[in-house]
Amino acid sequence: MPFSIKSPSDIEGMRTAGRLASEVLDMLTAHVQPGVSTERLDQIAHDYITQVQQAIPAPLNYTPPGYIPYPKSICTSVNHQICHGIPNERPLKNGDIVNIDVTVIKDGWHGDTSRMFVVGEGSIAAKRLCGITYDAMWRGIAKVKPGARLGDIGHAIQSFAEAQGFSVVREFCGHGIGQKFHEEPQVLHYGRPGTLEELVPGMTFTIEPMINAGRREIRELGDGWTIVTKDRSLSAQWEHTVLVTETGFEVLTLSSGSPPAPSFIQSAA
Ligand code: MF3
Ligand code: CO
Ligand code: CO
Repeated sequence: MPFSIKSPSDIEGMRTAGRLASEVLDMLTAHVQPGVSTERLDQIAHDYITQVQQAIPAPLNYTPPGYIPYPKSICTSVNHQICHGIPNERPLKNGDIVNIDVTVIKDGWHGDTSRMFVVGEGSIAAKRLCGITYDAMWRGIAKVKPGARLGDIGHAIQSFAEAQGFSVVREFCGHGIGQKFHEEPQVLHYGRPGTLEELVPGMTFTIEPMINAGRREIRELGDGWTIVTKDRSLSAQWEHTVLVTETGFEVLTLSSGSPPAPSFIQSAA
């Protein structure tokens, strides 16, 4: 099998790690205000993860092949930054949108989740992009059940996002997750129904679509990590870690502060 199947006790570990990652975002929410720097948010998150949660921030010093070590504990991607933005001293300003991506390791298990935050009052266009991207993630999650295929997830996300006039980033994808941060399979956010791997109970992976208001092409900044839109259009991303259950899915990265699922999910449950 090209991916790991988690046992019931593994899944308990994943549930805990997932909830903790989501609780970091809950805790950060009140701090995301005009004038705060993303570096300050990183410090607050680092202290909370290490001291309160007694957990490890997975990004810090993470060094995939071909990369330099990631220097911070969270990723903060502002406006036209797509993903892997490195926290810095620049203050957030009214109307910015920022993705905060948190991954914690607890008892050896990873939980990986991100949300969009609108700083102060956002434009209609910015709020629409964030909302559509949230629904796109959930349309992907809704496809998760035994016997479905990874291509079903990608197609659900792509067809929805493109129908709204947005584009889907191709170069980065969701991923299997467990005792490793990134494991097989790759979870593409575009594709054709009925293609790619079949989902099996016990698989755990992320769904984390990156949706651009303009064109899908990307550019990497000279810092070795930050990815931006080539046309400098706004980009949004949401991420959950999910488990394939016997009957469907369980979202592992939920907590008391998680935004509610869209109504098309509640009506299906
Ligand atoms: N959390 C990101 C993901 O969803 C990965 C970040 S890698 C880092 O897969 F090193 F930039 F943190
Ligand atoms: Co991820
Ligand atoms: Co992430």
